[in-house]
Amino acid sequence: MATAAPSDHSDFTVTPVSPALGAQVVGLDVSRPLDPSTLAVLRDAFQDHHMLCFRDQRLDDDQQVAFSTQFGPLELFPEKDKTKGKIEVYNVANVSPEGEHLAQDDQRVIFQRNNGRWHTDSSYRYIPSLASIMYGVEVLPDDSEGGETGFSNMLAAYAALPDDKKVQLEPLHQVHSYADIRRLEPTMPPMTAAERDALPPVTHPVVRVHPERDYRRSLYFTANTSLEIGGMTHEDGKALHRWLVDYVNKPEFCYFHRWQPGDLVMWDNRVLLHRAIPYDYARYRRVLRRTTVAGAGPIMGPFWPEARKAAGG
Ligand code: SIN
Repeated sequence: MATAAPSDHSDFTVTPVSPALGAQVVGLDVSRPLDPSTLAVLRDAFQDHHMLCFRDQRLDDDQQVAFSTQFGPLELFPEKDKTKGKIEVYNVANVSPEGEHLAQDDQRVIFQRNNGRWHTDSSYRYIPSLASIMYGVEVLPDDSEGGETGFSNMLAAYAALPDDKKVQLEPLHQVHSYADIRRLEPTMPPMTAAERDALPPVTHPVVRVHPERDYRRSLYFTANTSLEIGGMTHEDGKALHRWLVDYVNKPEFCYFHRWQPGDLVMWDNRVLLHRAIPYDYARYRRVLRRTTVAGAGPIMGPFWPEARKAAGG
């Protein structure tokens, strides 16, 4: 977990923002390519803090894409109507790419509302994403309510589980389905056949291990694609899912990021859940642009041969 002292890298500083997770980076312009030593410092800080907020950036879409690809290849967003210009840039906004403040029943706004449920990005893919990188273009005024992005630390949440819950969760899986967003938001139009074909439902372990962290365990589940855990009766699976959603809200796991214009926030989808905090969609404009760094492989559970070998099994 993060320590409170800032670290100084001659031209920029990295300072933790909460005991649970996150650090802010001040004094670094990320609109230009970063040199290898700066990138190495950022990769280490990202691994330690799981969320980095680069303050005071001025980025167009091309610059955001260029910054993001320094951390790996980018995912293409599944639906073109929710992107901006490039299919790599997801328009996280209640405003159209042309600048129109959208009606509350517009499906793009409904989609934003679904982001208000705890999730980790692209869990609906067989290989989910490594990181998301989101830039604050228009953010809510200081005196408004909501609009933060909340984060919850799944390494810490797993570590704090009672032993009997760890044993219960160890073998379980969740089905993640992009189409199931319609179950939660029934007024959204159905997916096209091509979209359904590209994104069939996938299954991931609820407890995942991290080879790059000595096979440490963390929780991995979402509340925006399905509402039950598998491997038990439907009723028990729904009750366990409700328990998990409630559990990850504990303040000791969470940090809520209040956006400032020019913030570029990068978070680790392998170990964090996140959610948008609801706000008055009709009154305020909120425009964020997200790029998503692709993951390197499927989610490894504790029963994978590599994980068993690492545990001495
Ligand atoms: C997202 O879930 O990708 C966006 C979160 C937010 O709007 O704060």
